[in-house]
Amino acid sequence: MTKYIGVLTAGGDSPGLNAAIRGIGKTAQGLYGMEVIGFRDGFRGLMENRTIRLDGNALSGILTIGGTILGTSRDKPNKMLIGGKKMDMTSVIAENYHKHHLDALVCIGGGGTQKNAYHLWKNGLNVITLPKTIDNDISGTDSTFGFDTALGVAVEAIDRLHSTAHSHHRIIICEIMGHNSGWLALGAGLSGGADVILIPEIPYDIELVAESILNRRRAGKHFSIVAVAEGAISIEEKKKMDILENRIEKTEDKEKKKKLSKELEQFKANAFGNTMQLAKELEKLTMVESRVTILGHLQRGGIPSAYDRLLATRLGTACAKLIDQGQYGVMVAARGEATVPVLLEQIVGKKKLVPFDHPWIESARNLGTCLGNK
Ligand code: F6P
Repeated sequence: MTKYIGVLTAGGDSPGLNAAIRGIGKTAQGLYGMEVIGFRDGFRGLMENRTIRLDGNALSGILTIGGTILGTSRDKPNKMLIGGKKMDMTSVIAENYHKHHLDALVCIGGGGTQKNAYHLWKNGLNVITLPKTIDNDISGTDSTFGFDTALGVAVEAIDRLHSTAHSHHRIIICEIMGHNSGWLALGAGLSGGADVILIPEIPYDIELVAESILNRRRAGKHFSIVAVAEGAISIEEKKKMDILENRIEKTEDKEKKKKLSKELEQFKANAFGNTMQLAKELEKLTMVESRVTILGHLQRGGIPSAYDRLLATRLGTACAKLIDQGQYGVMVAARGEATVPVLLEQIVGKKKLVPFDHPWIESARNLGTCLGNK
């Protein structure tokens, strides 16, 4: 019997999404004779029943294109903004799923998408997911597609910043995406030879950072490159967050808990992407002229690297095979050379952060790179 499958991409876009859609679609149709439709703009398009036929024509010529031909959004099935209000649209989504007689729904996305897909799985939909994000922070998989391309962009930027920093004897601080994880900043900083690398997992001491830059000057190196993750925080900020988290945990009063949680959210938002402030402080402490480059969405745009195309194709084709076998409620993960299904319940809500003993951290320390702590 012919199987019907739907595909959507959700969350921030990521290079390799089209390669994944192509991998799923071509294998599902060509090898297993399935019918494939796409939903536009993530869970929003599924709720609004906006579809696109993913036939041979639609899948042709998309392998090398960045972004996603399906469009994407950050909408959540159970908290969708409708007329200014957040509404639970799970039942409408389930209705549309059944309207199309779907046997499976493929959700391609990051941590948030895994969570949303798991929610639909618990509500009776045959869901299967693929891990994509430039942040590389999804647990249960060795890597996520998009990361390698973004890494390449960030490394090229650091390479270019070197010559201008050197010519002007400046500190150049390059802000790198990654949300609350430091994979991109650490990987790019190491590959690009940054002198300081600051990541969210290691709260930094600004005095130590300034000292490392001054030490370079004493050694005759009159410029420094600082690779900073957008989510990097100082030791003081971390302390304040810990205090607030502690208070939230200890408070039993519901209203007070809510107020404190809001305060914490606000504090975290203010601490996020504070690179201009970091530059000002470093300039003050070192008396060295500083400049900031924020790479932002440049890291997510453009053609996917060969590695990301390969990974996305590998996961996409394996996904079609798992659907043929009727394996749902899983994420298709990369583990070494293998491609394996991992239960969504095992990975949802678990962010993969850089462990303190990761070989990249060890290499950075061995090189004498300042990581903001001792
Ligand atoms: O999760 C991918 C990511 O690019 C993060 O690195 C970044 O913090 C976030 O998305 C930016 O999201 P938006 O495109 O919604 O501004």
